[in-house]
Amino acid sequence: MMNRQQMHEQLQKKLSKNRYLHSLGVAYTAASMAMRYDVEVNLALTAGLLHDCAKFLSDDEKIKKCQKHHLSVNEIEMDNPDLLHAKLSAHYACKKYGVTNPEILSAIAYHTTGRANMTTLEKIIYVADYIEPNRMHLPDIEYIRKEAFEDLDQCFIYILKNSIAYLLKEGYTCHNISMEAYEYYIGG
Ligand SMILES: [Fe+2]
Ligand SMILES: [Fe+2]
Repeated sequence: MMNRQQMHEQLQKKLSKNRYLHSLGVAYTAASMAMRYDVEVNLALTAGLLHDCAKFLSDDEKIKKCQKHHLSVNEIEMDNPDLLHAKLSAHYACKKYGVTNPEILSAIAYHTTGRANMTTLEKIIYVADYIEPNRMHLPDIEYIRKEAFEDLDQCFIYILKNSIAYLLKEGYTCHNISMEAYEYYIGG
């Protein structure tokens, strides 16, 4: 695995300034949450840092890279290729940054959709992505930020509900994995 300094240098080269700052925000927010919820801080820091490491690719490139690396692309992802940045970032974290820890890789892979039966680290990265300090103002953000350090499950469910409601309102099709998460945590 690359050391942390090399990761920072590589990310800074690949990502826009804002996305790099966002990645730092997610890394340090996730690290703080890991301290609160008894997860290894280094896992949270690395997963947070790399969670968007392939997001610089265009939609077209995302589809092509998935095909090239034999990562599945379903119909929903074809319609909304940005969803692919999560599994591609997990792939890049492994191939380009040398991360082999499966807990880190799955936290990256599911940071956008969530999934049923998530690990604590997966929930932390999902939540940290939403609440990190550089995020623009979102509805109820003060409440959500506080809840993130009080009750991780409640906070995660709140964000999942909000995100799905937002997607449906905007006319997007919700990813099937998000719907599975919804059914698992909230009920159909
Ligand atoms: Fe992302
Ligand atoms: Fe992100």
